Amino acid sequence: MSLICRHIEQLSGYTPGEQPRFEGMVKLNTNENPYPPSPKVQEALAAFDWQKLRLYPDPNCSRLRTLIAELNHCRPEQVFVGNGSDEILALFTRAFVEVGGTVGYFEPTYSLYSVLTAIRDAKVKPLALRSDFTTPMPEADYSDVFIWTNPNAPTSLMADPEQLKAFAAAFKGVLLIDEAYADFAAANCMPLAVSPGNTNTLVMRTLSKSYSLAGIRFGYCVGPQPLIEALYKIKDSYNMDALAQVVGLAALSDQAHMRTNAEKIIATRTSLSETLRQRGWEVLQSETNFLFAKPPVEAAALFAALREEHIFVRYFPGEKTGAYLRITVGTPAEVERLLTVLACYKA
Ligand SMILES: Cc1ncc(COP(=O)(O)O)c(C=O)c1O
Repeated sequence: MSLICRHIEQLSGYTPGEQPRFEGMVKLNTNENPYPPSPKVQEALAAFDWQKLRLYPDPNCSRLRTLIAELNHCRPEQVFVGNGSDEILALFTRAFVEVGGTVGYFEPTYSLYSVLTAIRDAKVKPLALRSDFTTPMPEADYSDVFIWTNPNAPTSLMADPEQLKAFAAAFKGVLLIDEAYADFAAANCMPLAVSPGNTNTLVMRTLSKSYSLAGIRFGYCVGPQPLIEALYKIKDSYNMDALAQVVGLAALSDQAHMRTNAEKIIATRTSLSETLRQRGWEVLQSETNFLFAKPPVEAAALFAALREEHIFVRYFPGEKTGAYLRITVGTPAEVERLLTVLACYKA
């Protein structure tokens, strides 16, 4: 008999995006921010008394919850702070899905959801996006919980918040709106999360993308107090370490820095989309810090050719996604290098 739980033995674990380390490489494969975090982060780290590392950190992230509540116009009791959005997603599947229950999400989307569902020994219930990658409306009893990524990854498209509002009102289970890329989008669903009548909807954000902090693990979600309390009941005692709390507080205190970088990325996104379209690519209307785009040549071959040049983008094989590349928006210099190399690969 196996020593490993049956459902874990059968599990294929999550494969994170590759983290190559080549001198001079152009890394456009994991939707990181090409600009450094706020200088306030540097100041906070310099001022941090290393001797305090002997103490446990605040288990409840009180100062952070107060600041996040101020930023999002809600009470601190409506805020959960997690060790990356990934931790919040894992806790979500434990708190709101029974063993054997169903987890709904659109397909294609962030591939961690299916892995977390399998770890929970629950059932995935993917709902296919339409052929143009827009979102159909799930039934009110589609699944026990639903994770709606908006804007979506890897497609970069955003569903109208009105559609999510209508779904939240009808849906019988808990809805988690994963807004990892919301700071690059024209709208978001935070007003829905903090609205007084909301009983079933959580909106989740991360500091990995717009705040340039993928290197620390920091995500948060906002929603009805009873749901937030359920997450607090099951988290690790000290899920946010002292450095993550200090860095997160400094970064969130500097909204201007985050917005400036997001606007720079949006401007580069616009120019890169236009150039690729002029070169015969089909580029989806991105509301994120990446493009999902169909080259006029075979995507898999182009992906491999770019790799040879140490330009890393993301390729998702498969019937729906196999003709596309996902390209993180880098600095103007990185994008120029990409475009120069791409010019050699014409249809
Ligand atoms: C849709 C989506 N949600 C969540 C995450 C994970 O975010 P974090 O770095 O906060 O764990 C990612 C990371 O790429 C993502 O694309």
